[in-house]
Amino acid sequence: MTGKFITFEGGDGAGKSTQIRRLAAALVATGRKVRQTREPGGTPGAEAVRHLILSGRAKTMGPDGEAVLFAAARADHVEKVIRPALERQEWVLCDRFADSTRVYQGAGGGADDKLLRALERVAVGESRPDLTLILDVPAAVGLERARGRQAEEATAAADRFEAEELSLQEKRRQAFLDIARREPDRCFVIDASQSEDAVAHAVWKAVSTRLFGEATA
Ligand code: TYD
Repeated sequence: MTGKFITFEGGDGAGKSTQIRRLAAALVATGRKVRQTREPGGTPGAEAVRHLILSGRAKTMGPDGEAVLFAAARADHVEKVIRPALERQEWVLCDRFADSTRVYQGAGGGADDKLLRALERVAVGESRPDLTLILDVPAAVGLERARGRQAEEATAAADRFEAEELSLQEKRRQAFLDIARREPDRCFVIDASQSEDAVAHAVWKAVSTRLFGEATA
């Protein structure tokens, strides 16, 4: 018997980190052992790759190069953290995972599809999530939340930038929804434009229905 592997996915400003914290606390309260982690990251090597990518220095490697880096970080994370925790029957909650590569490097990013499929096979192997919660918000809501400011404050130049950002964010949103449609057994879409409490309730309902084998109010 192994533990359960739950991944959280979604665009900017979907509230993933808050909801992961709340789910972790709720699972711990039921006596389950929980391991919270994130991507890119989760091991010293993968955190180094995270730093390299988020600093923008890997941009010159192009989308395929960046996808290779994400996959290297993921392989290390799966081998050293995720798989061992599942073998110890822990519940692993991961902030972003392979679907983020499909969406950010694939759908919106221009990386090669065949390369992405091969990298996913190598990095993830048998350690596929039991449940992927896709926190879905309209692009405009997500961007506004992520920036923590009002739209009126935008200048004309920022407006143009914002229009590009909005269309990219909307493209990513549709790509996450496409994954959910293609893999309904693994994925569950949650309306993350609701209040924090309502989202937490929906997360708990999905987890208990899908993974406890019985519905809980
Ligand atoms: P992070 O600061 O963790 O952002 P978020 O709160 O949105 O998760 O940064 C992670 C960024 O890396 C985010 O913009 C998504 C991106 N990303 C990819 O492009 N590919 C991937 O495979 C992963 C895991 C993340």
